[in-house]
Amino acid sequence: MVYQELHTTKKSNYNCMKLNPQQIIQTEDGSHSVLHSELHETYHSIHGAIQESEHTFIGAGLRQCKQSSLNILEIGFGTGLNAFLTLVETEKTRQKVFYTAVELYPISPESAASFNYPDLIAKDKKDIFYLLHTSPWQKHISLTKNFDLNKIQEDFTKLRLTEMYDLIYFDAFSPEKQPGMWTSERFQMLYDCCNPNAILTTYCAKGAVRRALQTAGFSVERIPGAKGKREMLRARKTT
Ligand SMILES: C[S@@+](CC[C@H](N)C(=O)[O-])C[C@H]1O[C@@H](n2cnc3c(N)ncnc32)[C@H](O)[C@@H]1O
Repeated sequence: MVYQELHTTKKSNYNCMKLNPQQIIQTEDGSHSVLHSELHETYHSIHGAIQESEHTFIGAGLRQCKQSSLNILEIGFGTGLNAFLTLVETEKTRQKVFYTAVELYPISPESAASFNYPDLIAKDKKDIFYLLHTSPWQKHISLTKNFDLNKIQEDFTKLRLTEMYDLIYFDAFSPEKQPGMWTSERFQMLYDCCNPNAILTTYCAKGAVRRALQTAGFSVERIPGAKGKREMLRARKTT
């Protein structure tokens, strides 16, 4: 159900770009997501935003990484749900996280304040969820003792990264809507900044995406997807 227009703001006010109509929707597990009505794309599965992020990025990605300190990269920060779930999870495991998030069209802090993720995931961390959105871009910030955040507002199709990562959450809009995000050249750039044994997870299971990841050098497996998706892809830098 679509019930609220997002308060997108001009870049000059909140460093947020106005990306045409975005609306908050409620997904099957009760958690919010965003509908980009021009692209006809939702930011998460309609079968449940939290269940999808938990399965695709936390279960298939984060929980496979046992290092005490992790460099994580997210392509498509969006609502901040993956970052928030990561922060909550690693507080339990006491892993230290350096989290880099790339986003071209940030959601305004006012909109972020209306997402129901803190209520459904960790009520006591409402302020931290809000901080994920209000903290400045292009700057390293310590959000908690164990969670450092670096949000980069740039176009991923042109981005060059210099740091090395252990885990990548690849959460772009679908290849049908944004093919330029899913090319073997883009995956090669990511491969080059992966530490040995690094993992890349994505909800997508398309053959063309699997082949593009393989061309970039990743070993790729198809694994069961979140509710509503039979399969998803998990890639590793095995050499
Ligand atoms: C599927 S949604 C991401 C969902 C997000 N991980 C979340 O949990 O809300 C895709 C995201 O990619 C962003 N995006 C679209 N084009 C982009 C680009 N060229 N560079 C970086 N981010 C982009 C969108 O604004 C959107 O937030």
